[in-house]
Amino acid sequence: VNITRHEHPASPSDPGFALVEAEAALWRGVVVDMFGDEDLADGPLARWSEGSRPSYFQHVRYAARTDDGRVVGVGTLELPQRDNPHRAGMSIVVDPAFRNAGVGTSLHAAMLGEARRGGRRTFEAFTWEPLEPTGPRRLSGVEGDGVIDPDGEPAAFLLGLGYRLVQVETLSVLDLPAQADLDRDVAEARAVVPEEYSLVQWRGVTPAEWRSDMAELQVAMSTDVPMGDADAEPSVVDPERVRSADESFLAGGRDLLFTAARHDPTGRLVAFTRLVHEQGRPVADQWETLVVQAHRGHGLGLLTKTANHAAVPEAWPDVRRLITGNASENRWMLAINRRLGYRPVAACGWFEHRLETP
Ligand SMILES: CC(C)(COP(=O)(O)OP(=O)(O)OC[C@H]1O[C@@H](n2cnc3c(N)ncnc32)[C@H](O)[C@@H]1OP(=O)(O)O)[C@@H](O)C(=O)NCCC(=O)NCCS
Repeated sequence: VNITRHEHPASPSDPGFALVEAEAALWRGVVVDMFGDEDLADGPLARWSEGSRPSYFQHVRYAARTDDGRVVGVGTLELPQRDNPHRAGMSIVVDPAFRNAGVGTSLHAAMLGEARRGGRRTFEAFTWEPLEPTGPRRLSGVEGDGVIDPDGEPAAFLLGLGYRLVQVETLSVLDLPAQADLDRDVAEARAVVPEEYSLVQWRGVTPAEWRSDMAELQVAMSTDVPMGDADAEPSVVDPERVRSADESFLAGGRDLLFTAARHDPTGRLVAFTRLVHEQGRPVADQWETLVVQAHRGHGLGLLTKTANHAAVPEAWPDVRRLITGNASENRWMLAINRRLGYRPVAACGWFEHRLETP
């Protein structure tokens, strides 16, 4: 096979978008093989949009093609531009018929070379894993009790390249309850929250008046979430970055639903949660939930989350399931999710590889 380098296509109508489509199809195959459905598979437009803001994240792709031009492997290198100048994200997928023949290793070498030349020294990669490891051996992250099979295809691949497991994330699914049940959950959650907090909800791009509060909450999200011993710096986020991130979701055929909690005496947002939905799919992703430290312990996590869930049927009538991921050591968030009816279905391995010298 031949390995070639490709810039991120500037628009979905560029000829280069075909490679993003090929990549999305290969990843869809991975999740369907492992989990039997497409719930965890992002479509090509959503994938494309993640690289559509090169001033924040630059994406570069490497393609592995057979002599007759068929794409049998794709690697995407993600280079953060505003923070974490030492880090690079790696994602590699190879057609099952071409695995264990060195394609993944060649893609990785090409990406690593480019990243190193750009001064990057810490590399991260993620793997999909079954909820219960299939082989006899177990590998756990630096913290938490989540485990994966070190002899599984992707883990063995990354471990062989010098990566180590930082964290195991648990992915859970909730069959969206009926509206009456969702509303009851909100009422129960509201009953224990002090009156000085009120809820603010919006859909799509964050309104201008909340962007600076959301920027601070996003920075807290990059420091307060369990991260094992990952070599990562806090995100640098300003109101403009909040706007541009939200707009890139919409450009990628996705919609956003936010519920935040305002502390009325100060007028500031002190907690938020977000759901992401790709048009036409029966699932939505429950992303971050965060309560700033000074306001924890008042039930705001449960309240914002239940209120956001309760807004789903009206916003996205086709959604049947919600999916969420939590660090296996994040007991508090996992406990909330179990209580809401989420059931663990899959795991995700977060791997990191550090070079001593760039
Ligand atoms: C992980 C993946 C990209 C590897 O691609 P590949 O082309 O098969 O990789 P290579 O042929 O270069 O194999 C390199 C190493 O991977 C491991 N590996 C590959 N196939 C394996 C298998 N079937 N069982 C166990 N280990 C395997 C081995 O350690 C191998 O080294 P070795 O040949 O010295 O034993 C591929 O399996 C894949 O696409 N998986 C799904 C996508 C994914 O999970 N990607 C995660 C990384 S971002």
